[in-house]
Amino acid sequence: MAKLDFIKHDLKNLKEQGLLIKIRTIESPQGAWIIVDGKKVLNMCSNNYLGFGNHEKLREAAKKGLDEYGVGPTAVRTIAGTMTLHNVLEEKLAKFKGAEAAISFQSGFAANLSAIPSLVGKEDLIFSDALNHASIIDGCRLSRAKIVRYDHCKPESLRERLAEYKDHPGKKLMITDGVFSMDGDIAPLDKLVAVAEEYDIMTMVDDAHGEGVLGRDGRGIVDHFDLHGRVDVEVGTLSKAFGVVGGFVAGRKEIIDYLHQKARPFLFSSAVTPPDVAACIAAVDILSESGELVEVLWANAEYFKTKMKHMGFDLGFSQTPITPVIIGDAKIASRFSSRLFDEGIFAQSIGFPTVARGKARIRVMISASHSREDLDFGAITFGKTGKELGVI
Ligand SMILES: Cc1ncc(COP(=O)(O)O)c(C=O)c1O
Repeated sequence: MAKLDFIKHDLKNLKEQGLLIKIRTIESPQGAWIIVDGKKVLNMCSNNYLGFGNHEKLREAAKKGLDEYGVGPTAVRTIAGTMTLHNVLEEKLAKFKGAEAAISFQSGFAANLSAIPSLVGKEDLIFSDALNHASIIDGCRLSRAKIVRYDHCKPESLRERLAEYKDHPGKKLMITDGVFSMDGDIAPLDKLVAVAEEYDIMTMVDDAHGEGVLGRDGRGIVDHFDLHGRVDVEVGTLSKAFGVVGGFVAGRKEIIDYLHQKARPFLFSSAVTPPDVAACIAAVDILSESGELVEVLWANAEYFKTKMKHMGFDLGFSQTPITPVIIGDAKIASRFSSRLFDEGIFAQSIGFPTVARGKARIRVMISASHSREDLDFGAITFGKTGKELGVI
């Protein structure tokens, strides 16, 4: 066998199981309607919750950032890459989140890889929700701490695991997604934090899909449950509702000061570019002034989900604008997505390993930029395709 034959073999297997990812190219700016592979389609699967991906104010801010600070930071943050804009973003994020301080990173993924291994190491324990995001899992693995999984969104299960390990001498950290990205359910963070407080352990939430969505004017899950000051580390992303790219940690000042010294993606990978940071600042400014777009987002989600449930689609446990249309079989989900595309809808299918085997789905992402006509068109087309493929 030649040395690279395993690749051909693996790709063939993925194809046979309907799990080969088909990468489509977006040929226009993000928005409700986009051009994909030469075709104008209704976009129902990007994380452009508030329409910031091509928002005029963000575009203007990016251009100004470019003119004033150039294209690149050309260094890591700790050597020569921290520019005025990075500091402004971090101050504004901390204020918006109601946290003592914030530190920004190149992505939400990098924020998890930064925070977790900085706080715990190989003598320590991590209590992790069974369905946590891949970037949390990778951050946990990188830390070399022992990972103890508790049942998904079950504070009682967390309590049992904590009791089991109560005599373990190392540091302990509880980690959960805020909003689970594939199901759209919300972690019972108030209850989880209460259990963590019983055992006096560190707490961390990854609010990638709660940022700009949950809480007052999109301030996120800590605000949603009014837990200010009780969650040690709040990870966020600037790449979803905030429309740009980047990630951050908001929390206690001593933790942020510590991450400045310890977080490896901060120390060993270059800073985010000035135009990107300037656009992120504009996004925070818009939300700091008004939550109008967040209200539109929730009203749109309610409207679409009601129609879909009425037609008999299984939307799982979603409590947020993330709308998983559960299909089960990966091949049927893939066929469903292709048929939607033929009919003018862009909504990718998602299968293993992103979701469990047998739980393939089309994950619809509702946006404030969708009009009611768009949502009607989406629902009608889903209904037609669902009947055609025997899903409803
Ligand atoms: C829960 C969660 N955390 C982190 C990330 C990564 O964020 P980013 O795209 O900014 O790296 C994602 C994105 O898929 C996510 O869903």
